Amino acid sequence: MKMSVIGCGYLGAVHAAAMAELGHEVVGVDVEQAKVDALSASRPPFYEPGFEELLGRAMELGRLSFSTDISAAAGSRVHFVCVGTPQRRGEYGADLQYVHSATEALLEVLNPGEVVVGKSTVPVGTAAELAEVVTGKVPGALLAWNPEFLREGFAVQDTLHPDRLVYGLPEGTGGEAACSVLDEVYARIVEAGTPKVVTDYATAEMVKVAANSFLATKISFINAMAELCEATGADVKQLADAIGHDDRIGRKFLNAGLGFGGGCLPKDIRAFMARAGELGADQALTFLREVDSINMRRRIRMVELAREVCDGSLMGKRITVLGAAFKPMSDDIRDSPALNVAAQLQLRGANVCVTDPAALDNCRRSWPQLDYAATPQEAADRADAVLLLTEWQEYQDLDPVEFGGVVRQRRVLDGRNALDRDKWEAAGWAYRALGRRAA
Ligand code: UGA
Repeated sequence: MKMSVIGCGYLGAVHAAAMAELGHEVVGVDVEQAKVDALSASRPPFYEPGFEELLGRAMELGRLSFSTDISAAAGSRVHFVCVGTPQRRGEYGADLQYVHSATEALLEVLNPGEVVVGKSTVPVGTAAELAEVVTGKVPGALLAWNPEFLREGFAVQDTLHPDRLVYGLPEGTGGEAACSVLDEVYARIVEAGTPKVVTDYATAEMVKVAANSFLATKISFINAMAELCEATGADVKQLADAIGHDDRIGRKFLNAGLGFGGGCLPKDIRAFMARAGELGADQALTFLREVDSINMRRRIRMVELAREVCDGSLMGKRITVLGAAFKPMSDDIRDSPALNVAAQLQLRGANVCVTDPAALDNCRRSWPQLDYAATPQEAADRADAVLLLTEWQEYQDLDPVEFGGVVRQRRVLDGRNALDRDKWEAAGWAYRALGRRAA
């Protein structure tokens, strides 16, 4: 099937290449020339495991192309809208300007019988509004909402083998038509027995924000327990292991530490609260305010803990930050807890040196005031304390004996509860972590 993907960020670019992998003929459209140039040359404009191979294969087969010109989308049977919906500056609500401009642009090329498929995360009610615009301008065209649940770092796998498909459809024959087009798009995924939920626009939009709110709540729950563990001397890691054995609770997303960041969870829970307020249902989501506060408090606590281990003052101390991306296996630094902590430490007079296997280019552009080093060894040269803030595997695999040779003081703060505590302590390191007792 011929299809277009509007917006080629982490979501859109992977979606476009994955659709080509499924056998479709795809054009990706983005307003950013540099991104289109990179993708056209089979070069990923961001770090995402497996994406380079997927992109290369699709380009070689001639099934995928990219353009800045919306007219390249003409003649596509399906048009995926994959643009960002960031938090509005100074407000909780989502900024829908890119969704609106993408839809407006599509109207220029849209024909009756074609389907606009929204994948961006939007406030509930957006799809119904857009459907009016689309069908008002191009009678016979359809709109469907098909939220995406991919995780950065696993985007290729999650797109090709999602754990569910959700179709938000208009009522009546239009809904049936859109449903069969989506079934054709995802034929291989549907045939693999992937669960499919066919529903209305509002439910489909809410599935996405409800899922992300649940995940955020789960993380903040365990981080609230970490606060209590700190007050009582209990151990949050053992607590998580123990409650996680109950399969009604489950161990996933119960990793206590610095909390959640990124381009999704933080802004999605805020946009959800803002939308609930507009709908007169704000009370239903007041708990998300607490989820957000618990999450932000972890960053403050990390800075405080660093001050504590540095004999009560950060002034002039050399601090190493391992990891800058909002999570491992990504170069995304949007609302990164690690960088937030690094910047706070710097503001309090520490000399902070940050390292990350993938995100340093993005860091240097966005946070030029921090120092950066390519390797943990360079970053930790004569350090007074080392902070693990994003749990890349290579940092978990560091040899604490050897690594101890580069620092001035063997003090490690495990902001993600990811290091082998016994190993580090045996190598003479003073180990501290959020939600766990000091030795
Ligand atoms: C999240 C959702 O997991 C995806 O399902 C969703 O599609 C995506 O948002 C989106 O809305 O597009 P993502 O932002 O890539 O995916 O990252 P997650 O794996 O959810 O991690 C989010 C944050 O939570 C990271 O900062 C991570 O370090 C933190 N986290 C995760 C914890 O602090 N503890 C945990 O136990 C798990």
